[in-house]
Amino acid sequence: MVTQKSGKFFVGSIVTFLIIFGVIKIVLLTSQDAGKQAVTPESMVAEDVAERIKPVAQTYIGESPVAVAAVVEAEESVGGGQQLVTQVCSMCHDSGLMSSPKLGNKADWAPRIEQGVDTLYNNAINGLNMMPARGGRPDLSDDDIKSAVDHMLSLVE
Ligand code: HEC
Repeated sequence: MVTQKSGKFFVGSIVTFLIIFGVIKIVLLTSQDAGKQAVTPESMVAEDVAERIKPVAQTYIGESPVAVAAVVEAEESVGGGQQLVTQVCSMCHDSGLMSSPKLGNKADWAPRIEQGVDTLYNNAINGLNMMPARGGRPDLSDDDIKSAVDHMLSLVE
């Protein structure tokens, strides 16, 4: 009896989890769509579309063992913001993955810059929606992230 009950509870919690996950996903997709509508027809270019419909799993490449090894190596050579952007942030920001503001794209960055640089630092450090805290690199210091943001901003000046 006890096992049956906890079995039910187990299944119940999985179902609950799936529902919550589904709702989150719908919300995210809807908000992305809303953003997309404001974008120029250029965003319908086949490459961009392919980028958007990529399997989500590829996003989490940073957590694969290979990438972790690369991270350990990179740690020794944490350089200026430019290097960090190339090594860490460009994974998403190069292509605008998950609607991230593209490197060097003024239109993407203008409304973000309006929030003030402190907000940008803050969101890069603490994360924002699909933007992982510190770009998914908890080993980076606040100053590292700030210099990476500074470099991103210098690309759209
Ligand atoms: C896993 C993908 C990913 C990585 C890696 C990533 N970003 Fe982002 N970033 C995003 C997404 C997605 C957004 C858009 C978030 C939103 O507005 O919902 C974003 C937004 C931002 C913003 C704008 C925040 C704002 O307030 O509008 C800044 C600044 C930023 N990222 C900095 C960085 C820096 C610096 C790094 C590297 C250390 C980095 N990102 C790495 C996905 C990523």
